[in-house]
Amino acid sequence: MSANQSRDGFATKLGVLTATLGSAVGLGNIWKFPYMAGENGGAAFLCIYIAATIVVGLPVMISEIMMGRHAKSNAISTWRKVAPDNKLWTLVGVSGVVAAFAIMAFYTDVVGWVFSFIVMAVSGGLNSTDPKIGEAAFSATVSSPMSALLWQWGVLALVSTIIIGGVTKGIEKTTKTLMPILLGMLILVCIRSLTLPKAGEGLAFLFNPDFSKVTGEVVLMAMGLAFFKLSIGMGTMMTYGSYFRNDADVPFTATRVMLADLTVSILAGVAIFPAVFNYGFEPAAGPGLLFMTVPAVFSSMPLGQFFMVIFFVLTGLATMGAMLSLFEVPVAFFIEALKWNRRKATILTAIGLAICGAPATLSFSTMSDVTLFGLNFFDFYDYLSSNLLLPIGGFFIAIFAGWKWGSDKVERALSNRGTLNNQAIISLYSVIVKWITPLLVLAVLLKGLGFI
Ligand code: PFF
Repeated sequence: MSANQSRDGFATKLGVLTATLGSAVGLGNIWKFPYMAGENGGAAFLCIYIAATIVVGLPVMISEIMMGRHAKSNAISTWRKVAPDNKLWTLVGVSGVVAAFAIMAFYTDVVGWVFSFIVMAVSGGLNSTDPKIGEAAFSATVSSPMSALLWQWGVLALVSTIIIGGVTKGIEKTTKTLMPILLGMLILVCIRSLTLPKAGEGLAFLFNPDFSKVTGEVVLMAMGLAFFKLSIGMGTMMTYGSYFRNDADVPFTATRVMLADLTVSILAGVAIFPAVFNYGFEPAAGPGLLFMTVPAVFSSMPLGQFFMVIFFVLTGLATMGAMLSLFEVPVAFFIEALKWNRRKATILTAIGLAICGAPATLSFSTMSDVTLFGLNFFDFYDYLSSNLLLPIGGFFIAIFAGWKWGSDKVERALSNRGTLNNQAIISLYSVIVKWITPLLVLAVLLKGLGFI
């Protein structure tokens, strides 16, 4: 009991919201969502993604936060507390910590690219309407082993410094400051993009669904993105849930985070697509959209360099909250299970990440020939986490919350011991988490394993 009383946590309701939203918002919104929407029919993908977020993402998010807050523990020990009679559930927590490492390994690499693009954008090195310039800058960034590694280590050092500050003074304070700045910048870029002459074409692409583009593959991809986006299936939300105040309304907070995160994804689309269409660039440019197309698009417009800098800075800011939450998963575990202090847990996690991350970073240079199951390390970490570990985690979390934990416990946890009048919402959540979410997640998983 005394350990729990002295446990760090989010001090304010606003902090609960900004930290959780900070975890959700990141490269998923500004890098993955626009290029996936660009490749898969724009608005049609958006519709499927919204549905996936509601029926798959939200229930798992609520379940994770609920369990974490109940146990007030890290992602592994939470399972020991909620399922004391069967140690196998703990494996779900272990898989989460492995996933956090795998995601951080490639995520910090991409964030390193973003930071180096900020420097290039400021120096004017990306000012060209020819996408080949962005392409060349991108390939120089990723293919120079030492500078790519140094960027990644710089990112790790920055995140470590905030994590060492603790949950309230580090994570909560940082996300409370960054989220409004990020939104302000994003809205500014949206206004610029929307005031371009042919903005309507980009908006039509984003908001006029053409369902002929929707295949089973697209649906499964949208569900996979919902996992990555909402930071679920791997104990991040469980760890953050353990920092939630007892009076926080979990379903309401999760719904607000889901909606706000969706808004950020849509705003990112609004910032990018009208400009892409206005200047006649290709919306389906794939993962290179952010790094190769975007600089050329901004260079084409008046005051382009200014907006390009703002755009890459906001992307960098968006990644901070996500990285903090990923980092906190192993750190919280090491502090509580191995009794390390926060500084030691953070530094050793950072060293571990630098070691695991190096092969991902070097996948574009010295280690490009080294493959695991036919994938280079970068793609392997992404595949392992997004296609396997997150859906596996999500599946078991939904099964546990829906079938194993017990409806009385779920109800007590979600109604804050009967102090909230949210019976209808709890009933709806219970039905979805029991009957719909596990089946859909299973489909994502089977796809990840290549069975469908
Ligand atoms: N949600 C983050 C994004 O969309 O960029 C990525 C992420 C953060 C995934 C934290 C998983 C996680 F635990």
